[in-house]
Amino acid sequence: MAEEKRLWWKEAVIYQIYPRSFQDSNGDGIGDLAGITSRLPYLKELGVDVIWLSPVYKSPNDDNGYDISDYRDIMTEFGTMADFDKMLQTAHELGLKIVMDLVVNHTSDEHPWFIESRSSKDSPLRDFYIWKDPKNGKAPNNWESCFSGSAWEFDEKTGQYYLHLFSKKQPDLNWENPKVRDEVFDMMTWWCEKGIDGFRMDVISMISKDQRFPDGEPTVGDLGFYGPYVYNGPRVHEFLQEMNRRVLSKYDLLTVGEAAGVTVDEAKKYANAEGTELGMVFHFEHVEAIPGALAGKWTDKKPHLPELRATLNKWQLELEGKAWNSLYWDNHDQPRAVSRFGNDAPKWRVLSAKMLATCLHMMKGTPYIYQGEEFGMTNMHFATIEDCDDIQARNAYQQYVVEEKLVDGPTMLRYFDEMSRDNARTPVQWDDSANAGFTTGKPWFTVNPNYKEINAKAAMADPESVYHYYKKLIALRHSLPIIPYGVFEPLLLDSESIYAYKRHLDGQTLTVACNFTDKEVACDLFEGLSGEEIISNYKEHKAGVLQPYEARVVLS
Ligand code: NOJ
Repeated sequence: MAEEKRLWWKEAVIYQIYPRSFQDSNGDGIGDLAGITSRLPYLKELGVDVIWLSPVYKSPNDDNGYDISDYRDIMTEFGTMADFDKMLQTAHELGLKIVMDLVVNHTSDEHPWFIESRSSKDSPLRDFYIWKDPKNGKAPNNWESCFSGSAWEFDEKTGQYYLHLFSKKQPDLNWENPKVRDEVFDMMTWWCEKGIDGFRMDVISMISKDQRFPDGEPTVGDLGFYGPYVYNGPRVHEFLQEMNRRVLSKYDLLTVGEAAGVTVDEAKKYANAEGTELGMVFHFEHVEAIPGALAGKWTDKKPHLPELRATLNKWQLELEGKAWNSLYWDNHDQPRAVSRFGNDAPKWRVLSAKMLATCLHMMKGTPYIYQGEEFGMTNMHFATIEDCDDIQARNAYQQYVVEEKLVDGPTMLRYFDEMSRDNARTPVQWDDSANAGFTTGKPWFTVNPNYKEINAKAAMADPESVYHYYKKLIALRHSLPIIPYGVFEPLLLDSESIYAYKRHLDGQTLTVACNFTDKEVACDLFEGLSGEEIISNYKEHKAGVLQPYEARVVLS
């Protein structure tokens, strides 16, 4: 097999910051850039290499910054461009890189482009967005928004509908228009010239729409319902190759595409080893809903290991040597990893969080840590719909509980406890002081009441904590090339409880086994295996078994 091309972002660990909930510096209850700057030494100490910043641009916050009204300015609540420059400079001085979120499938409806575009049918910017005449007095087709309801909004003034695959305040840009592409590429170049280190590209698999705009059988994906004609569309690779030629190839960047609806075959194109498009993509298959979930997302059922293993193995094996994997359990759109895939009961929280981290960080690809994951933050409890902030959850409640009466309120709230994006968006729990040290004011969103026990300060003081375990995993990746580059070999394909695999590089082998259950399970993988145990969440092992949530890694 050809030698894997060695690149810095393949050896890096990425840390995602959701700025609104990370650290407030001025007491207004909202996280901000100066708050991030003040926490950079914490991230340096943790050992991560790169920070992915969820959007910090000017935004009316219909979808917490994923609705941008000015790509070259900073959200008022987050600070100023001077604060951004200071953050970037401080990060670079510490040897940390900054990756920006690039949200260019859509803008805010308050972006000057859209304000101009909607002003008249003859506007010079009319074609910056996707406008269509009504069909039989109704929406042009049956595409649905990822945030519930039709993807089309009727505009009284001009008598046409515009497309919004997300909220109606997030109109989709028309990538068919070369002027739109020019604007986007200019803006990206502007940020690159500022010295940023890469882009995470929001729903980039959705930028090319089938221009026939046909009705579709709605398909189910983690982001909700959308017609089958909007992701991995006819020109998406052409657009990304153009972006690569005109912008990305001119700088040394980390690029990761959020690719809703991506298959392994599509991923081989997006993240091809020749580097003509992106560095890597996020797929959704391992976090995607359980069969039978309402609208493909809402459920209180836990993932089942055999299916999870099949998905993880497929991505590891299929991309080998052809494209690069990104590895994640959670992010700002997912519930907390330890609650979803592990066990957040006090007895198992620490053990299962360490097990999940081991499983992910030893796989092939670039691992992502979502803020608070590194010390085991958990899901929230939502007692009423008023406790929820997220537009996706609120719209789903309105549609499925209030209007269509498909489920009752308490059931939906139980689903939210398990799956809602709000679980990830509670403020970071820094210490056990008021508001978990996130703000001196009133936090914009509820602090998880478990912050007295689960917080960064306590974790840093405890050598057995989840935090110190993450620190060790990160350091191992930096010191052992087999972790980023070893070839993946799956093991124990029939186990109901254990996820296990080997990695191979230059005559070395890494053996990894993780028990996903709270039961002791027979396992002979380590019997007679010589080598050095490089990490485990148990100090003592028992012959022939893995203990509850035990994870072991041996290098031989
Ligand atoms: C994906 C982002 O991760 C999510 O938070 C957002 O709501 C949608 N894209 C729309 O931008």
